[in-house]
Amino acid sequence: MANDLSSPNRGVWNSKLGFILAASGSAIGLGNIVFFASNAYQFGGGAFYLPYFFALFALGIPVMILEFGLGTMTRRSFPEALYRIGGRKAEFVGWWSIAAAGFITMYYIAILGWALGMMFGALGTLFEGGATAPFTPFLTPTAPDDPSAMVYFFNLITTWWPMVCVLVIWALNILILIKGTKTIEAAVRIFVPLMWVFMIVLIIRGLTLPGGTDGVLYLFTPDFEGISDPSVWKGAFSQMFFSLSLGLGTMTAYASYLPKDADQVNNSLLVSFMNCGFEFLAGVAIFSLLFAFSLNPAGTTLSLSFFVIPEGLAEFPWGVRLFGFLFFFLIVIAGLTSSISLIEGPASALIDKLGITRGKALTFILIPGVVGSLCYTLPMIIDPDLSGNGTLGLSLLDVMDHWAFNYSLLTVGLLECLMVGWVLGADTLRRAVNQHSKFYLGRWFNVMIKFIAPLLLGGVLVWSLVAEFSQPLYGSLVDLGSFNWIPNVIPFVWFFGTIAFAAYLTFGRTYPPYDLDSLPFREATPETSA
Ligand code: TRP
Repeated sequence: MANDLSSPNRGVWNSKLGFILAASGSAIGLGNIVFFASNAYQFGGGAFYLPYFFALFALGIPVMILEFGLGTMTRRSFPEALYRIGGRKAEFVGWWSIAAAGFITMYYIAILGWALGMMFGALGTLFEGGATAPFTPFLTPTAPDDPSAMVYFFNLITTWWPMVCVLVIWALNILILIKGTKTIEAAVRIFVPLMWVFMIVLIIRGLTLPGGTDGVLYLFTPDFEGISDPSVWKGAFSQMFFSLSLGLGTMTAYASYLPKDADQVNNSLLVSFMNCGFEFLAGVAIFSLLFAFSLNPAGTTLSLSFFVIPEGLAEFPWGVRLFGFLFFFLIVIAGLTSSISLIEGPASALIDKLGITRGKALTFILIPGVVGSLCYTLPMIIDPDLSGNGTLGLSLLDVMDHWAFNYSLLTVGLLECLMVGWVLGADTLRRAVNQHSKFYLGRWFNVMIKFIAPLLLGGVLVWSLVAEFSQPLYGSLVDLGSFNWIPNVIPFVWFFGTIAFAAYLTFGRTYPPYDLDSLPFREATPETSA
């Protein structure tokens, strides 16, 4: 058939279970363990939970239905799906999100590299005393029998090992992605159940420690005063988008490998609840350890998981190495099933647009990706005299994360709601999804997509930007010695880099012409009632 939308290069999931494992594996990752804990702590535990739950129902689930729906309706990756709805301008947004996914992948994998290093460290000297810091002004050696994960970590990142680890993580990603859905499915069938088991083991250990349950109370006792602060809402919205893998086209790419009759309401609910359930467990495990050992979690995003929790683990009465290893192994496998989805979104978009093979698409991503990830792990090695105490890579990562985490996902979320809501028509998507859904989506869905989600996202974005620019540029106050210019340049590189990439891919080439009436989503339009 001339207008057949399935091309030989595209994949297809073997089973619904495979898809659910892959999508929930994408959702569950560093966001659920590392970022969630640090956000929940930073925003005051109980104060974070109300905006967080609100975000799940008001934004997370509707936008996931939208992204899944787009995928099965068009059977195409995100930029092309948007192109079919709203032409070139919409496609541009799709490519912009793909570029953002690229930037995020680079530092996501750098963090995974460090986690892999810590995992091996757990079997080595991480839990032994006497660690020394490589930079005297930063940290003094610990006492001979006092293990310090922080000292260990800063020691580690000044060696070549994190670079080796980053290469290993990239290689694993490519191995898992090489045959597309086939190899992804094989990997998630092992890793996703395994990470649930490990998380349950950790949580049982955390809760059975004396004082552990206080942490749970801190996390879940609602704090109604804290929620008047808009930054808590912004934090909760960004966290929800990141955690559910929304706003970068990932879920559309994964859903495009499903048969047309997939039940996307059911899938969205399953994936969202599994993700937030896991996040809930991770929060309980981490906060119970924090309180059991009265640890001080102050510091950057990474400090809670990378220094503080290991410090708690080191005080375990038994099984210190085992639990330390398990904890970082958990982070690595949870992160791996997410990073493959961060790469698959761009890969499927390139395959669809350029008609190239998967191998070629992966190579196009691999080269800049590896270079980018290595940059975060490299600079502290080449310039040990930095007055930033060798933490240049960490500081850069923090600045990059600030811009990408807070702005790209929510901006794309806003624009995709507007495009589906007003250009395609929320009702068209709703009816198409309802055709195959057991749970009937009422007209409230249209209201969510057309009004509520855009207002919430737009409101939070405008507020953030105003707050952002009424202060010195983020990161410009950290002292990086002769590298002080870097944090100032990052937002511009990110902003103009992503725009240039998006413009190049959008306008450089046209999708092969399709007879629009043959598109699956057009079929849904004439239907009068669901
Ligand atoms: N959700 C993942 C996590 O929690 C990260 C991730 C994977 C992601 N794919 C994404 C985030 C797409 C945003 C968009 O770690």
